[in-house]
Amino acid sequence: MVIAPSLLAANFARLGVEAARADRSGADWLHLDIMDGHFVPNISFGPAVVKTIRPLSRLTFDVHLMCSRPEILLEPFAKAGADRITIHVELDGQVVPLIWKIRSLGKQVGLSLNPPTAMASVEPYLDRIDSLLIMTVNPGFGGQEFITECLTKVQQAAAWREQLGLNYRIAVDGGVDDAIAASCAQAGADTFICGTALFGQPNLKAAVARMRKSVNAR
Ligand code: DX5
Ligand code: ZN
Repeated sequence: MVIAPSLLAANFARLGVEAARADRSGADWLHLDIMDGHFVPNISFGPAVVKTIRPLSRLTFDVHLMCSRPEILLEPFAKAGADRITIHVELDGQVVPLIWKIRSLGKQVGLSLNPPTAMASVEPYLDRIDSLLIMTVNPGFGGQEFITECLTKVQQAAAWREQLGLNYRIAVDGGVDDAIAASCAQAGADTFICGTALFGQPNLKAAVARMRKSVNAR
């Protein structure tokens, strides 16, 4: 099971300290939400911030691009230290070249879909991705409520993975706390991206341990 605190819920006044806190927390990935004020109605941070915190953490850097023009950002984030780059399937026609470009940069490939987007839209790409990130809130902000209907997508993703003999990770992102993470694990998720429930807690290490226990006990 992969536990991935999302930096969006960290204290932006001391991002370096927060990145180091994640490094010592027992988490597996650091999730980095990149928002462009166009694909989503919010702006977060860019490659310069990722580059600055890269030396402070040994965690896998999981860059989630909620951006209308990811093609111009792949190389900057790859150079800044991303290990995995996730793009959105809503960008239609561009998905194949984007996947190819991420691979050519030597990075792991993630594909994400928003709550209103049907699972059929990701089906054609399942054999060329490393992770499927199922958005369980409408992207743009932390601290929103988990949309329960998204659990059926997790079940579908797990069923397809089994039937097709693939091994992409199944990630949930948005509104996930310990109890919800357990339900997601039950449905087939193996990667848990959490802002409020992890970075939002004063003791991140304890919060990661609680979540790991919760998903392992499913
Ligand atoms: C939302 C982001 C999430 C966000 C999750 O657009 O993609 O990664 O940080 O935050 P919580 O866990 O607070 O919903
Ligand atoms: Zn995210």
